[in-house]
Amino acid sequence: MNAVIHVDAKHPGAAINKNIYGQFSEHLGRCIYGGLFVGKDSPIPNVNGMRTDVVDALRKLQVPVLRWPGGCFADEYHWRDGIGPQEGRRRMVNTNWGGVVEDNSFGTHEFIELCRQIGCEPYINGNVGSGTVREMAEWVEYVNSDGDSTIARERWANGSKEPFNVKYWCVGNESWGCGGNMRPENYADLYRQYQTYCRNYGKNRLFRIACGPNGDDTEWTEVLMKRAGKMLDAISLHYYTVPGPWENKGSATKFDSDKYELTLQKADNIEAVLEAHLAVMDRYDPEHHVGLIVDEWGTWYDVEPGTNPGFLYQQNTMRDAMVAALSLNIFNRHADRVVMANIAQMVNVLQAMVLTDGDRMILTPTYHVFDLYRPHQNAQLLETAVFADRLGNGLKQVTASASVKDGVVTVTFANLDPEKPVEVLVDVDGAGAKISGSILAGDPHDYNDFDAPEKVAVKPFTDWKQTEKGLLVSLPACAVAALSFRD
Ligand code: AHR
Repeated sequence: MNAVIHVDAKHPGAAINKNIYGQFSEHLGRCIYGGLFVGKDSPIPNVNGMRTDVVDALRKLQVPVLRWPGGCFADEYHWRDGIGPQEGRRRMVNTNWGGVVEDNSFGTHEFIELCRQIGCEPYINGNVGSGTVREMAEWVEYVNSDGDSTIARERWANGSKEPFNVKYWCVGNESWGCGGNMRPENYADLYRQYQTYCRNYGKNRLFRIACGPNGDDTEWTEVLMKRAGKMLDAISLHYYTVPGPWENKGSATKFDSDKYELTLQKADNIEAVLEAHLAVMDRYDPEHHVGLIVDEWGTWYDVEPGTNPGFLYQQNTMRDAMVAALSLNIFNRHADRVVMANIAQMVNVLQAMVLTDGDRMILTPTYHVFDLYRPHQNAQLLETAVFADRLGNGLKQVTASASVKDGVVTVTFANLDPEKPVEVLVDVDGAGAKISGSILAGDPHDYNDFDAPEKVAVKPFTDWKQTEKGLLVSLPACAVAALSFRD
């Protein structure tokens, strides 16, 4: 045996907020247009304009929450441009992403419709960079008001007498960068002002999210917590895994073993970043009223050759599956403070779940990891200790997390080694004896494409034997597995 995973199933801990398995969709490239939304008149099968194939795949994943409309796009988005009859909507140029025409045919009502079809909660990101307090306040009113105001009546006229009751709202996106290049002091003051006028309507209570830091910038967190920490429910952090300098991030599919190890090392670094921000937050909020949200995370490589550089379209290999497994295990293990995470992005952009080409669709290795991890949603975290050899980059060869829900213990674990299989003793103290498993495995370079859509897929897993010390599992190289234990 080369590794041991010990799980204490007798003392369940914090609940793993299902929103850790959230996603992000921006008006960027082919995420919304073509990926999720094709319009009612499209020959691609759709319901009210939403692609049936993509929605069906996402429903199966039990996506809990979806963030929209950006991203950098959010701070140039004016919600009024996206309501009313689609043909009369204002057109703009998407200056952030590829300079393409944005015809606003996907707006607030379409977003709510998409969330209803997927079965997830909506999370709206307001515009601070180029918007006004009034604009954001009226968006909240338009979306949530159960009263009889001119603004609520506009929503009625646009087809919804019932308010949408959206709970999650963020004030600005990357206000330290594309959202206005602000200093934290300036943003903290603006945040206080904006949130004052984002009202609760009816029984709906807003969950107020402030734009948090870029990566490891703890000064931003410090200033924000000090000046506005009592007026917010969560801070949002962005952390991307970029395996190289910005001008040469590297290919999504062609990489050597050094690049593979660097990618995992960068992904793993999110744990130190989370802990640094949480330490700052603890000083201002020792009772942990404020949560941390990682509302943009994932891999960011050079775009696929031949595609619009502003569209951020990249392939997704088993390397991305390892990043997903590693990151989700880290979020699970910080379940007491990390209350949401939204991978960037849902379709056709960065570390996507789904890729589309015209009417064709494929599921990525990252999709399959989210599928394997579904049982963790709203389960209780179990303390997990991992003993394993180290890779060349210093990371443990094996990453794991575990939870329990309705008496079923789920252990998710990955062999990060690109070449060597590993024998893992999985020793779960206090779990049932009926075991079932699933696995996703392959070469780090393996991916699905439109000609080979099932090259990487989840398979049943039974490669283990019971021993006196626990379950001895043979995990191939570059593999992620989920085992469930029940009575
Ligand atoms: O996800 C792509 C971009 O990355 C987002 O628009 C922005 O918030 C971040 O820099």
